[in-house]
Amino acid sequence: MDPLVAAIDQGTSSTRFLVFNAKTAKVISHHQVEINQSFPKEGWVEEDPKEIMQSVYECMERTCEKLCQLNIDVSNIKAVGVTNQRETTLVWDKETGEPLYNAIVWLDLRTQSTVERLINKAPGRNKNHLKHKTGLPISTYFSAVKLRWLLDNVDEVRQAVLSGRAMFGTVDSWIIWCLTGGRNGGVHCTDVSNASRTMLFNIHTMDWDPELCRYFDVPMEILPKVRSSSEIYGWMKSSSLAGVPISGCLGDQSAALVGQMCFKEGQAKNTYGTGCFLLRNTGAKAVMSDHGLLTTVAYKLGKDEPACYALEGSVAIAGAVVRWLKDNMGIVQSSSEIEKLAAAAGTSYGCYFVPAFSGLYAPYWEPSARGIICGLTQFTNRNHLAFAALEAVCFQTREILDAMNQDSGIPLTQLQVDGGMTSNRLLMQLQADILCMPVVRPTMSETTALGAAMAAGAAEGVDVWSLNPGHLPQVTSEKYEPQINSDESEFRFARWKKAVQKAMNWET
Ligand code: G3P
Repeated sequence: MDPLVAAIDQGTSSTRFLVFNAKTAKVISHHQVEINQSFPKEGWVEEDPKEIMQSVYECMERTCEKLCQLNIDVSNIKAVGVTNQRETTLVWDKETGEPLYNAIVWLDLRTQSTVERLINKAPGRNKNHLKHKTGLPISTYFSAVKLRWLLDNVDEVRQAVLSGRAMFGTVDSWIIWCLTGGRNGGVHCTDVSNASRTMLFNIHTMDWDPELCRYFDVPMEILPKVRSSSEIYGWMKSSSLAGVPISGCLGDQSAALVGQMCFKEGQAKNTYGTGCFLLRNTGAKAVMSDHGLLTTVAYKLGKDEPACYALEGSVAIAGAVVRWLKDNMGIVQSSSEIEKLAAAAGTSYGCYFVPAFSGLYAPYWEPSARGIICGLTQFTNRNHLAFAALEAVCFQTREILDAMNQDSGIPLTQLQVDGGMTSNRLLMQLQADILCMPVVRPTMSETTALGAAMAAGAAEGVDVWSLNPGHLPQVTSEKYEPQINSDESEFRFARWKKAVQKAMNWET
């Protein structure tokens, strides 16, 4: 039997566990569990850290049961990789193992006033004041401001810090700590890709930065140890996989870059999940954007391997707009229904929907923007609205792709895509139309988990997966060619841009 490698993919909306054949990169078995989000106040988004861990255990156990039904021995699983929603912030007590507050999700806006205060006191009120070290603008998106909020507002967190019991982490750190033993010797670590999203990490020195920690007044002793994205961090302590090494760790967008085999400078992918994230590999250079993109550490595949950087265009709301139409508006019963509705309309009929629910991320970085739907008439129905929602995802991608092309000077000629929403064929065709370029989708859509499995399988001491260019698995793909002319696409895009201006200035 070929060796197997597994991956935990803990995203904003769901947790998955997938088992891959390390020779063919085929999925052998998997399980998925949805994650509840709570919105305790307007703009707040939280998740329960214990529910996250329960979902991880449930996915692992169900997948192992499915393997047994296939007569496959789970002992063939040689390593596990972890990939996760990034920036989401947790603090827990290392003695009790208990979370000290809910996880504050990356989309959360509660720190908007803190961010405004920080920007106002930065020289020239420059939101890019810390960009030379972090690659990031000061924004509600990143972990440092969320951690600051926890330190300022949650007594239990403050007390735990004072008594040396607090541990901070993003979701990867929480999962690895719990799986490697928790309060009985769990490993407190993160990898460079996740660390680079906290705003406390210097992307040049590749370590926590004392000056940044002072800036946010964050005690350095609560931070996890920063490791590479591919090395043995520890071993599973319980579950059916006890004794298996955890040897891969990547933020989900980095994992998708790896899973799409974008190892060469200039290669890019766009992942459609809760949000939408376009990453372009810039190799050993940390390229700073002049057009509102982030500079991020893409991965470091081994302790002694060089780090690789990426330029990133982040869109906060992609799949989340479909979830909103389902959960808040009741316009669809299931997320997959959106395609049928949009197809029935075939047009938005002049309706534009800017889902700026969490402000606008790239390229605007405007936390005070709010969602709008404009261009409504009595003729507009839910099908047009469904179409406008899908079109919004495509327009947002067009904006970050334009910024990416301007920054790099070498335009992309086609877009490699992945993520849950890419099973929506209408969306893929719309995307090709709005970009006026082909969109290429791998037939195996689980590229995020694949990237984490590749990192885990290639780690020193595991060595069942080769990242050698000659040995990378062959992936089949499907191509969508543009079907409208560029005049029409430009006309619609110009209208969208007008709607964005309204979303940014809705109060004036
Ligand atoms: O930065 C947030 C991102 O990592 C979340 O990814 O797949 O949950 O939309 P996803």
